[in-house]
Amino acid sequence: MSGKVDLFFKSALSITKEAGKLIRDQIYNRSKKIDRKTCDIDLVTETDKAVENLLITNLSQAFPDHQFIGEESSAEGKKVELTDVPTWIIDPIDGTLNFVHTFPHSCISLALFIDKQPTIGIIYNPILEQLFTAQKGKGAFYNGNVIKVSGQTDLSQALVMYELGTSRDSERKENVKKNIASLIDIVQGMRSTGSAALNMAMVALGGADAYFEFGIHIWDIAAGELIVTEAGGVIIDPSGGAVDRLSRRVLVASSESLAEQLSAKLTQFYPMPVD
Ligand code: IPD
Repeated sequence: MSGKVDLFFKSALSITKEAGKLIRDQIYNRSKKIDRKTCDIDLVTETDKAVENLLITNLSQAFPDHQFIGEESSAEGKKVELTDVPTWIIDPIDGTLNFVHTFPHSCISLALFIDKQPTIGIIYNPILEQLFTAQKGKGAFYNGNVIKVSGQTDLSQALVMYELGTSRDSERKENVKKNIASLIDIVQGMRSTGSAALNMAMVALGGADAYFEFGIHIWDIAAGELIVTEAGGVIIDPSGGAVDRLSRRVLVASSESLAEQLSAKLTQFYPMPVD
């Protein structure tokens, strides 16, 4: 299998780089065609659709028996199903709101799951040329260099990443406010890139120590999971225990101890699952 995975990785990387050109070409275009999905802060552009289309077309030509879960295909009604079959999980632009505003922190997040387990993770910000990669058992890399999490174990010394999210649901917004308000007095600092995948990449890089969010989707976190764990970090459900990738809840951290301390301080929120 390892030789096959190398081949999957090489193809995926070259297709991702190609798709990245679409993002780079459009980021500073001030008249992007934008549609609203679930609400006025949940956006999709023509480029999101073009990137997802390019990735699925090329990957399915290369690997006809593989399956796909894509953010935009799912928004158009395709059922989200993770089976044992090799499945590519795609967020064509993670940080779409950033992309719309020309805030240069957007990326392609692409993962391959085999037997429901993360096997390849690629996070690529083509605007700033940031490439985070991992293959199961082979470590995590930033622009080709090995990366490791910070190893921080003390929440009071931690830089914690969070997101405001992309839904107007009032209960969810209250939860975000509550968690920020309580953590602000406990942690050393808080940061947000506007992209779940890039937040996870920052934890893998050791630039941040933890990240949590209620309301994310499997395509936001699929690549980040492997990159964080291959860099030595952990991923759990924010209430503790194993993460359920379809539960729309995530917590990653540079150590188990930090994950537990953060989990204990969070007010929990359980978003509606996706069909
Ligand atoms: C969103 C971003 C955002 C996070 C949301 C995601 P999208 O993904 O990752 O940072 O807060 O939960 O849905 O819509 O830009 O692909």
